[in-house]
Amino acid sequence: MGKGKKVAIIGAGNVGATIAYALAMRGSCHRIVLRDRDTEIAKGKALDMSQAANAARQHTVVTVAEEASGLAGSDVVVITAGSPRRPGMSRDDLLMINAEITKEVIADVKEHAPNSIIIMVSNPLDVMTYIALKESGFPRKRVIGMAGILDSARMAHFIHEKIGYGSGQIRASVMGGHGDEMVPLPKFSTVAGVPLSDILSEDEILEIVERTKHGGAEIVGYLKTGSAYYAPAKSTAIMVEAILQDTKQIHPCAVLLEGEYGHHDVVSGVPIVMGSGGAEKIFEVTLNESQKKKFAQSVQSVRKMIDTLHEKNFFGKE
Ligand code: LAC
Repeated sequence: MGKGKKVAIIGAGNVGATIAYALAMRGSCHRIVLRDRDTEIAKGKALDMSQAANAARQHTVVTVAEEASGLAGSDVVVITAGSPRRPGMSRDDLLMINAEITKEVIADVKEHAPNSIIIMVSNPLDVMTYIALKESGFPRKRVIGMAGILDSARMAHFIHEKIGYGSGQIRASVMGGHGDEMVPLPKFSTVAGVPLSDILSEDEILEIVERTKHGGAEIVGYLKTGSAYYAPAKSTAIMVEAILQDTKQIHPCAVLLEGEYGHHDVVSGVPIVMGSGGAEKIFEVTLNESQKKKFAQSVQSVRKMIDTLHEKNFFGKE
């Protein structure tokens, strides 16, 4: 028997803990280590989850990494550490606070888990993924941001709310950054293969597109003290499992673009093949002029934040 698969989750708040729970309930890996500034809370959650795994007759054991050295041997490191959105706050407001946290955390990952695949979850997502890439020096296939699966799932749900059928058969597509400029793609969305445009009017589709773009804020508005975590966590768990099980399935994720879609040195959400190597293939989907323009706008909003980081000399001597 090998030593089994190990997943580290940095940040054991609602999102991090729910990712661990989703993985433990399916026995997706042998070991999960939680790492959080609040060690006591993390220990309580880890014990609780290990006990839940026994109830579910799964073999996953959840523990806490009190020291960064506890990350050693991780196949996948998920990073959720950061300040969450509060009502009225944009993802971008979080930029500088979470940039510093990400930098610190990535230094630990680089030192203790240099062969891991990093899944970035903290917001603003695309920029944090970019920071993780630059600070780790890992190849782009090993630094992947979560968001496309979440945004597509939200869109699929909104489609279902509108039509009232096809639950579980809806394939919605969202590309671009995980921000207000994300690009829902109704033309690439279907219900069991039936194009959305053959089911709904243009106005109805537009409503779904708008609601999808603000899907995160809608939930923040209800929760008030934080942002969504069930769908973000499940979306992340799907990515972890795709890597650990080498599924080679296609998922929309945030990766570094190196010329794809005409953009360089910026992170955005595009369809990729996920497997044990990480982002094993990046697709360049043919977009029409309007879709290309929206994608470029989304990329631009991410680039502006990266520029802000450069202005503040965040990346050190350049
Ligand atoms: C969301 C926030 C967390 O989309 O970005 O729910």
